[in-house]
Amino acid sequence: MPAKTSKRQPARELLFGNLWEYDPAPETASPQLQSRYQLFIDGKFTAPKTKKYFPSISPRNEETLAEIALAGAADVDAAYAAAAKAFPAWSKLPGAERGKYLYRIARLLQDRAREFAVAETLDGGKPIKESRDFDVPMAAAHFFYHAGWADKLNSVTPGKTLAPLGVVGQIIPWNFPLLMLAWKLAPALACGNTVVLKPAETTSITCMKFATLLLEAGLPPGVVNFVTGAGETGVAVVNHPTAKKIAFTGSTVVGKSIQHALAGTDKKLTLELGGKAANIVFEDAAIDQAVEGIINGIFFNQGHVCCAGSRLLVQESIADRVLAKIKIRLRSLRVGDPLDKNTDIGAINSQNQLEKIRELVDAGVNEGAELYQPACSLPSKGFYYPPSIFSGVTLSQRIAREEIFGPVLSILTFRTPEEAIEKANNTAFGLSAGVWTDKGSLILKMSTELKAGVVWANTYNKFDPTSPFGGFKESGFGREGGKQGLLEYAQLI
Ligand code: NAI
Ligand code: MG
Repeated sequence: MPAKTSKRQPARELLFGNLWEYDPAPETASPQLQSRYQLFIDGKFTAPKTKKYFPSISPRNEETLAEIALAGAADVDAAYAAAAKAFPAWSKLPGAERGKYLYRIARLLQDRAREFAVAETLDGGKPIKESRDFDVPMAAAHFFYHAGWADKLNSVTPGKTLAPLGVVGQIIPWNFPLLMLAWKLAPALACGNTVVLKPAETTSITCMKFATLLLEAGLPPGVVNFVTGAGETGVAVVNHPTAKKIAFTGSTVVGKSIQHALAGTDKKLTLELGGKAANIVFEDAAIDQAVEGIINGIFFNQGHVCCAGSRLLVQESIADRVLAKIKIRLRSLRVGDPLDKNTDIGAINSQNQLEKIRELVDAGVNEGAELYQPACSLPSKGFYYPPSIFSGVTLSQRIAREEIFGPVLSILTFRTPEEAIEKANNTAFGLSAGVWTDKGSLILKMSTELKAGVVWANTYNKFDPTSPFGGFKESGFGREGGKQGLLEYAQLI
């Protein structure tokens, strides 16, 4: 057959069906797990006063990996007391000295990158190629970047000095456990704050391993404290009177409850919540490149990404072509064991999240959108979901409005740039967006009119510690990364 591309037919793709299979290629580095993790308070691993532990399981096969200490209010109190005790000396340390600790932490993380990547993948379910090539290196990059700022805080806002806030409470989610820890810790420490941080209950292991790095780096006791547990522990972190600021990343529902709890107090607050980003493809875009961006935008980390491109807005004239190409590309995605180096889509983080995805996909079908899932065999144990796309979606459907936080794409169409903007902004969220077009002027117009904290042009899901990240509307407020992120952990004097 001639390899000719007609205007309407997608180009022939290399699809081998089930002619041959990949051999398994499991990552073999040891994650160096302990059977039990205590709390990390005042530079020591401490048994919880509650005397309780909870299991952390691997969504890969539902096996228990370790027991995690459950911190109660008295443990959170002890963590804040340690952080308050450490604050005077840490905040008075010359910035260059604080920077040295941050550099040391970054380098130690690089040294143990493979071990951390495997632990992250086992505990959270993300593909090893992502934890190895994205999560761990980016976490190190955040420490390197903020190490560089620690002795240059006077030049952030010339004429003013940045002073630390005091003890800060931080709560992070399960989708990028180590990376969110880095996003939160690095700027707080660079500015001279001390920290009480709570990881998410399904993914505490890399946080607790990180505590061993802090000890190796010789960080003074109490500068960073880790308390593990679920929502109740989080409430204790939020409400503690010692906290001068709370930084939260997670669901919009919990974000709102934290905002209620802090109303009337003088605690500072930053919230990084959900999203329902529009990834907008115009007819003049480089289509194959856009298809890769669409795939990456929604299937990266199983779609457990707050800035995931979960709504595809495609110009009507190319909609059929793009849909056909996406379907072909979907069939080549490898779903399964996250420890396998060839896996593109790993395990869903938890049973709860899997049920939420199923519920929303059912809603999409019931509301009349058209579901496509490629044939793929999923492992019999563990939490897995096939990559899924919905076409014929309308803005009123739940799958167009609610954050699914899974490998599910909702496809809508538009005719004009104005209609694309109208539809993209017709959401309660405003974290990110993508624009695919050959026209620079259209990129500028779209990025000005889209109500989203980050707008990617002809690319998607690109991150850099120098670039501020954060939302509009119900996606939250405050920025992480860049100079703007530093200002969230400081007061100007
Ligand atoms: P969640 O908001 O309950 O969990 C995030 C963190 O908050 C965890 O550390 C959790 O222990 C803690 N937490 C829970 N309740 C708390 C409370 N009352 N006070 C203080 N801390 C509390 O998120 P969940 O239930 O795990 O996921 C539900 C949905 O939230 C997801 O399906 C997704 O749509 C969204 N989500 C968004 C994230 C983002 O990066 N923007 C991250 C995680 C979830
Ligand atoms: Mg787990």
